[in-house]
Amino acid sequence: MADFQIAPSILSADFARLGAEVDDVLAAGADIVHFDVMDNHYVPNLTIGPLVCEALRKHGVSAPIDVHLMVKPVDRIIPDFAAAGASYITFHPEASEHIDRSLQLIRDSGCKAGLVFNPATPLGYLDHVIDKLDMILLMSVNPGFGGQSFIPATLDKLRTVRRRIEQSGREIRLEVDGGVKVDNIGEIAAAGADTFVAGSAVFGAARETDPNRYDSVIAALREQLAGQAAGAGQ
Ligand code: DX5
Ligand code: ZN
Repeated sequence: MADFQIAPSILSADFARLGAEVDDVLAAGADIVHFDVMDNHYVPNLTIGPLVCEALRKHGVSAPIDVHLMVKPVDRIIPDFAAAGASYITFHPEASEHIDRSLQLIRDSGCKAGLVFNPATPLGYLDHVIDKLDMILLMSVNPGFGGQSFIPATLDKLRTVRRRIEQSGREIRLEVDGGVKVDNIGEIAAAGADTFVAGSAVFGAARETDPNRYDSVIAALREQLAGQAAGAGQ
């Protein structure tokens, strides 16, 4: 069975109580903390930086932290995130003048490295650097905001990238980010994704009414993934 991982995006968490929110989603069975960094320059929104990553580590979060950089330039901030406890650092190739150098900088800083592809970004950026990647992240919305709808053309792009990963013979995670919900995660997994970012689907779940909301929604996401894995095995 595929090693599926669920990565709640803290963009949709309650920032006034972020440590507890992260504890709660991890206790509910999430695998990775997806950490969206926006700079009001590469994308039209502004979020959180290395200090918040470090604060989560100091709070006691030991799960992998998956830092998604939506910033330009990229390189200046990489060592700061590595020092702050990032596990993965991914960036958008359009935002770096020297993609190979940025990937190397991430690896030299002791983190796992990944490239992020916007919906209209061609996959050619993979051609000469796939040997330096631990993760490929396909955006299934345009970056900048949570709560947008999944763009269906991502499914074909996932199938293409899955084939390229298999051809490479390397262990590279294939992550998808944007509009992932209980009702579409199965077909997204069937198209080849193994790591699923979900922001509003997780943190938006019945915030006021259901004290076990994260357990319920993460169980529902896993149930869909298990159904997909069972179907693939037949
Ligand atoms: C969008 C971010 C996403 C976002 C996903 O730019 O990269 O991680 O939080 O949010 P949902 O799951 O609500 O689409
Ligand atoms: Zn993201």
